[in-house]
Amino acid sequence: MEIARVAAAVDRQFDTLLQVPDDPRRELYEAMRHAAIGGGKRLRPLLVMATSRLFNVDESCAIRAATAVEALHVYSLIHDDLPCMDDDDLRRGKPTTHVAFGEATAVLAGDALHALAFGLLADERTHSDPFVRAEMTACLAKAAGPAGMAGGQMMDLVAENSTFDLPTVTRLQQLKTGALITACVEIGAILGKVTSEGRTSLRGYAHDLGLAFQIADDILDVEGDEEKAGKALHKDAKAGKETFLSLMGLERAREQAQMLVDQAKSHLNGYGGEADVLRAIAEYTIARDR
Ligand code: IPE
Ligand code: IPE
Ligand code: MG
Ligand code: MG
Ligand code: MG
Repeated sequence: MEIARVAAAVDRQFDTLLQVPDDPRRELYEAMRHAAIGGGKRLRPLLVMATSRLFNVDESCAIRAATAVEALHVYSLIHDDLPCMDDDDLRRGKPTTHVAFGEATAVLAGDALHALAFGLLADERTHSDPFVRAEMTACLAKAAGPAGMAGGQMMDLVAENSTFDLPTVTRLQQLKTGALITACVEIGAILGKVTSEGRTSLRGYAHDLGLAFQIADDILDVEGDEEKAGKALHKDAKAGKETFLSLMGLERAREQAQMLVDQAKSHLNGYGGEADVLRAIAEYTIARDR
């Protein structure tokens, strides 16, 4: 299956990029490897690969951009799990990085994966055209910063002491998880030298997919199995946060997620069978159990 092949390729990339040196930085590399290798759905790299395939991008280039986005995602998970953030002990079925390596090393492992992400996108081996490299780098920077993930994480902190309404929760989620998901699809198309206007329908797909993904995450937080999820669940209600589920109820949340998946797929109507993996990803997003 496609997802397994991409997951193995991402593991190989991290293995090559993160060879442990025989010097005092050893622990840092081991912490990065602990967080980055072996685990996770690898949904973001799969999105980069599946989108870049629409435009016949060389796979050995695309996998480097896909690894960059995953490195950024893994950094965000390490920091998200820290005691000063969500204070979680389990991630991807393993002890979180700060539990395994200590808090200071975990902060540095996150910092270093963040830098690795941008380094990969700026590298000549990822794309020979410097304009493509600059555009991908800017795209990821926007998705990760205050107008993207970091901004969404800030709203998430504020959510613990506020009562957000549905439009505010939607905005929070679009920034926290939607922005990076959209960046994956954009980067796949940028690799294929598609102009910004040419990416409109793909952005529509990613927007709806991101929301469906988050509704599924909220449903899993209530109904999921911790063993399968590999992380602590039932945290949203405990933290007193409004989610799609708390605001809409289970029934409506499920309907909304299915509607978003159908809508995401309809944005791909201009593509033929070459977009089937993107269609399957949309279905998987709400059918998943982890
Ligand atoms: C978890 O992301 C954090 C959120 C953005 C909800 P994923 O559900 O994609 O986690 P992994 O990568 O599979 O571990
Ligand atoms: C994490 O969101 C999102 C980012 C890391 C940007 P959550 O805190 O809701 O995700 P989990 O439940 O820890 O995976
Ligand atoms: Mg969090
Ligand atoms: Mg968390
Ligand atoms: Mg969650």
